[in-house]
Amino acid sequence: MAETQIYEGAIDKGLEGVVACTTKISSIVGATLNYRGYTIEDLAAHSTFEEVIYLLWNNRMPNKAELAAFQAELLKEMTLPADYLTALKALPTNVHPMAWLRTAVSLIAHWDKDANDNSPEATRRKSLRLTAKMGTIVCAFEALRNGKTLQTPKADKSMAWNFMYMLKGSEPDAEAVKIFDTCLILHADHELNCSAFATRVTASSLSDLHSAIVSAIGALKGPLHGGANEQVILMLKKIGSIENAREFVKAALAAKEKVMGIGHRVYKDGDPRAKILRKISEQLTKKIGEPQWYEMSILIDDTMQKEKGLMPNVDFYSATVYYSMGIPTDIFTPIFAVSRISGWCAHAMEQYENNRIYRPRGRWAGQEGLHWEPVEKRP
Ligand SMILES: CC(C)(COP(=O)(O)OP(=O)(O)OC[C@H]1O[C@@H](n2cnc3c(N)ncnc32)[C@H](O)[C@@H]1OP(=O)(O)O)[C@@H](O)C(=O)NCCC(=O)NCCS
Repeated sequence: MAETQIYEGAIDKGLEGVVACTTKISSIVGATLNYRGYTIEDLAAHSTFEEVIYLLWNNRMPNKAELAAFQAELLKEMTLPADYLTALKALPTNVHPMAWLRTAVSLIAHWDKDANDNSPEATRRKSLRLTAKMGTIVCAFEALRNGKTLQTPKADKSMAWNFMYMLKGSEPDAEAVKIFDTCLILHADHELNCSAFATRVTASSLSDLHSAIVSAIGALKGPLHGGANEQVILMLKKIGSIENAREFVKAALAAKEKVMGIGHRVYKDGDPRAKILRKISEQLTKKIGEPQWYEMSILIDDTMQKEKGLMPNVDFYSATVYYSMGIPTDIFTPIFAVSRISGWCAHAMEQYENNRIYRPRGRWAGQEGLHWEPVEKRP
């Protein structure tokens, strides 16, 4: 009998340091994140989420007319088909919103006439529809589980404005919209993160965009990726008071537990998004009269740096930002998806443009040379 072939190639557990493709969407250089060559700081200070989506999909900034036309297209696509909404009503809402979102995004493919067309034009049309509708779908969940009517998005307002309006059912103030828009910009893309890679792996089999995005949502849901922001606020609540923060971290480390929102595969000198969100967290927690959440975060951040040399990532301070905006805890990760869908679509487009199926190897480490026995003879 031929011996099992044991693949002897190098193993990079978790694919650390493996370069799996070329990309022109976003880059991480040291502690800097760039989208299409623009720093995240520049975009967060001056751009809008709509403009960033255009940038991610077109490799350049729009001019005034292009931006206006693109915004109008996005806003037109924000509404959900009536019979799709009816179908959503049949889904249970006593589940995690990320699990519900995964189903809802898979479901909407059946209302998309381009669902099985993988041409660049159809992928772009589907990207626009999905990106426009993602926020509305998340807000539909919130409305359904609370027995409320989903507000109709307003075509003369931004995506950030409409999301907050539909989520809460009342018109948001300008400051909250600006902050939320900044959050959407900061989460839009991040090189070959776990969910972008999941998008590309699924797209690489030449499967359709909706399938690739459903894969991405599944990947984002996990607590080591987008699910961390929700875990951060749960951790802060568990710690309870500023006095307990340092001890909590030390006990978690002694028990070899992860402190959520801390650490990163790529950034070792700090995540640039966390620096921007930290300032907003300080400002907003003070504004709502609950500065203790920020103070506790600072102590956790400091203790983790001292004890393990690990810095906060994007999810650490976004948790207290969303909390301060009155957003339900389990909607934090869906918000990540509302933004990151723009990056996922850019990755799917790029993958289709220059495709080769992802098919790595696994080194055999299991049993060998066994022979089948009738069930009666087995121990
Ligand atoms: C982001 C993350 C998944 C990166 O994982 P990774 O690159 O595989 O890093 P590892 O898990 O191998 O961590 C390397 C070391 O740092 C430790 N570490 C990393 N993140 C940690 C954390 N948040 N809390 C405690 N220890 C942590 C690991 O235990 C390991 O320690 P060891 O060398 O003593 O065994 C990881 O830092 C993590 O789980 N963070 C918490 C979840 C999170 O915030 N995710 C959002 C990412 S944007």
